[in-house]
Amino acid sequence: MPILIRGGTVVNHDHSRRADVMIEGATIAAIGAKLDAPVGAEVIDAGGCYVMPGGIDPHTHLELPFMGSVSTDDFEWGTKAALSGGTTMVIDFCIPDPGQSMLAAYQDWRRKSEKAAADYGFHMAVTSWSKQVFDEMETVVKTYGINSFKHFLAYKGALMVNDDELYNSFARCAHLGALPLVHAENGDVVARMQEAILEQGITGPEGHAFSRPPEVEGEATNRAIMIADMTGAPLYVVHTSCRESHEAIARARAAGKRVYGEPLIQHLTLDAGEYSNSDWDHAARRVMSPPFRAKIHQDSLWAGLQSGSLQVVATDHCAFTTEQKRIGAGDFRKIPNGTGGLEDRMPVLWTAGVNTGRLTKEEFVAVTSANIARILNIYPRKGAVAVGSDADIVVWDPSASKTISAKSQLSRIDYNVFEGYRCNGAPMATLSCGKIAWLEGDLRAETGDGHYVERPPFSPVHVANSTWKAQTAPKGVQRAEITP
Ligand code: URP
Ligand code: ZN
Ligand code: ZN
Repeated sequence: MPILIRGGTVVNHDHSRRADVMIEGATIAAIGAKLDAPVGAEVIDAGGCYVMPGGIDPHTHLELPFMGSVSTDDFEWGTKAALSGGTTMVIDFCIPDPGQSMLAAYQDWRRKSEKAAADYGFHMAVTSWSKQVFDEMETVVKTYGINSFKHFLAYKGALMVNDDELYNSFARCAHLGALPLVHAENGDVVARMQEAILEQGITGPEGHAFSRPPEVEGEATNRAIMIADMTGAPLYVVHTSCRESHEAIARARAAGKRVYGEPLIQHLTLDAGEYSNSDWDHAARRVMSPPFRAKIHQDSLWAGLQSGSLQVVATDHCAFTTEQKRIGAGDFRKIPNGTGGLEDRMPVLWTAGVNTGRLTKEEFVAVTSANIARILNIYPRKGAVAVGSDADIVVWDPSASKTISAKSQLSRIDYNVFEGYRCNGAPMATLSCGKIAWLEGDLRAETGDGHYVERPPFSPVHVANSTWKAQTAPKGVQRAEITP
């Protein structure tokens, strides 16, 4: 049945205009003034609302086995929560178990994600280096439609890679037309600081934050940027949380390097004071890496979004229950790292970003949807309200308000890090591939409605972007070969 969204203002990242939007099947069929509703069409009255591309959250961990637990929100409830908050696509991290082949991990993730209620894709994690990894990366790109590889510089002894592995993998990404992603914290230094803090008798969640200061993130961000540049690869820095990291990204961009930064909605709005709460559960629920930061870092992140030196707001949704967090009672190193936010990202960002005048509504679309669609090579299929685009749309009511509470959330965990936050602006309706998934508080999306979205590799020109090669390398000196 066709759907006509009537009377709203269409907001894209580059312009806004009053227009109706006609949806046929899974795509947008027409946009224009006063469109006629075909016989049998369902009409959504969007008067007073903004009609925007559905949000894309490029950083989720649904049903992830991690630190001895499995994150509680799975693809079903993670994506349902996302839709209720205006997000219509998630990109999850496919992380092979130690020694597991990427191809097997991909199959595991495809199985887990069959339950998804919204569209989804994957990034693939590189957690070691071998001939097998070298070979499988090609299959991942060419056969599975994954054009991004994640690298952890933290989580020593588990997911962390060293600089040799990083160089090889980044170079392989450049060769394959893929985008490397990095979790930038110096894992060796974090491990030393954790030991030192425990020796001082600090075992609670505040020790987690003390052991991961902005310096470990700034150092790792700089290092990853320089290594990526020497391989000719672009770089995407996930969960950029502090001034040191943001400044490294801004400096790199000013020098002509293709580097992107992704602050999280949590880091933009919640600060390190949460860890000094005397209630252990309260503080532990907020343990994530990097940790929440002091206010000056938030100011820097906001400035980055405003100026364009940071491009994307994500959640890193990795939701553990209080009971799961309690595994770390007595030793902060064992508290499963991760927080939720999928259903809150858009309303909180609108409230803290648009209502305060920091972001225009077009910039809101850019940082929640269009920019990441372009960075990940799925624009304008996703990230735009345009004829021919997927009908992933949020009808946004700027006059709606709600107070965030775990009691009313769709996420399956027993708390919400934004508990009590008053949002002004929320989805009236969310459409996912032409289907009404959420309408005025009513969840209509069904388990399994989501589709796997393949992303093509980038052109060689896009990835061949090395200031080292162009400006610094002595004439005739070539890059190191990748060693499989
Ligand atoms: O604490 C976090 N961020 N947990 C999820 C895994 C990661 O590092 O992204
Ligand atoms: Zn991370
Ligand atoms: Zn993450």
